[in-house]
Amino acid sequence: MIIFDGSKSSGLAEKIASFRDFRLGELEIKQFPDSEIYVRVLSDVENKECAVVKSTRNNDDIIELLLILDALGDCGAKKITAVIPYLSYMRQDKRFNRGEALSARTILKLINNLSDRIITVNCHFLNKEGTFNAACYFDLTSKFFQKDMTSDSFDNIDFNEKIKEIEGNNSNNSKLIIENLDAFPVVAKYFAGKNNENNKKIVVIAPDKGALNHAKRAAEIIGCEFDYLEKTRLSGDEVKIKTKKLALKDRDVLILDDMISTGGTICTAAKVIKKSGARKIDIGCVHGVFSKGTKMFEKTSDELVCTNTLDAKASRIDVSGLIAAAL
Ligand code: R5P
Repeated sequence: MIIFDGSKSSGLAEKIASFRDFRLGELEIKQFPDSEIYVRVLSDVENKECAVVKSTRNNDDIIELLLILDALGDCGAKKITAVIPYLSYMRQDKRFNRGEALSARTILKLINNLSDRIITVNCHFLNKEGTFNAACYFDLTSKFFQKDMTSDSFDNIDFNEKIKEIEGNNSNNSKLIIENLDAFPVVAKYFAGKNNENNKKIVVIAPDKGALNHAKRAAEIIGCEFDYLEKTRLSGDEVKIKTKKLALKDRDVLILDDMISTGGTICTAAKVIKKSGARKIDIGCVHGVFSKGTKMFEKTSDELVCTNTLDAKASRIDVSGLIAAAL
C-alpha cells in the first residue's frame, strides 16, 4: 500500500507507514494567490492500493482531501482508502430546524464518491467502534425531525442500536460506510499509566451525557469511578453546566470528551468541578481542535492532553498504531 500525507503534515502518515512497512507516496500541493489549492500526484499509483491520511481541521483541508482522492483515482489507483483521523462537520448530523443542511451527510457523501473506504477516529455522531452505514443514520435523523423531535428527545435515543435495527431493511439501499475507530482506550491507558498506585482515587467525568459512554469505558480501563455533568449549549462557544451533587472533594478528576473545539465545554466543566473541591483536574480528549487556543486551560487544569489526530502542542497520545492496525 502507498500512503499519502496531505500538506501541513503532522507526521501521522509516516508513523502509520512505519508500523506496517507501507511506502510513502509523493504529492505536490500548493496554494494559488487566490487561495485555491493545487494538487499533483507524483508517485506511480497505477493498479496500486493507496491510502490518504488527512484530518480536516478546516474547509481548505476538505477541498485538499477531495482533490487528492480524485487525482489518485485519475492516476489509476486500484483501491483508495480515505483515512480522516479527525473528520470535521460531524457535529452537524441532525436537523433541528426545517431547511437546515445535514452537513455531516454532505461531507461524507463527497468523500464517499471519491474513495473506496472511509476510516475515521471517534466520529462525533457514532458512540461505538465499528463499521456503520451512515446512510441509515441520516435516514433516521431526517425521519425524527419530521416527527418534530426536540434536541432533548435525541438524547434519549441510542442511535447505534437504531442503526443496527434498520440496517437490514434500509429503505433506499444507499450505502455510506464509515469505519469508526475508538481512541478512548488509548487515552485512558495514557492516564492509567501515569501514576498507577493512585488510579483508584481518580474520578472520570464526562462534561455531558453524550460523553458518558466514553467516560465509563475509560474508567473501566483506569479502574476508577465515573460520573457526568448536565450541559446545555447556549451558543457556539457558550455552554451552561448544571451543578449537580458530585462527591469530588480532594479527588483527582479526569475530564474526558471526544473533542475540544472552542474549549467552552471543558473549561465550564472544569470550573464546576473546581467548585466541588477537586484537588487536581486533568483534561483528556481525542481531537484537540483548539479553535480559541489553549491559554484558557492554563488556569483551569493541571494537564491537558489529546491524541495526534490533529497537530497541537497537547497532542501527546499517539494513535498511529490504532490506525495502522485497521489498514
Ligand atoms: C459535544 O457534543 C462534544 O462532545 C464536545 O463537548 C463539544 O463539541 C466541544 O465543543 P467546545 O469545545 O466548543 O465546547
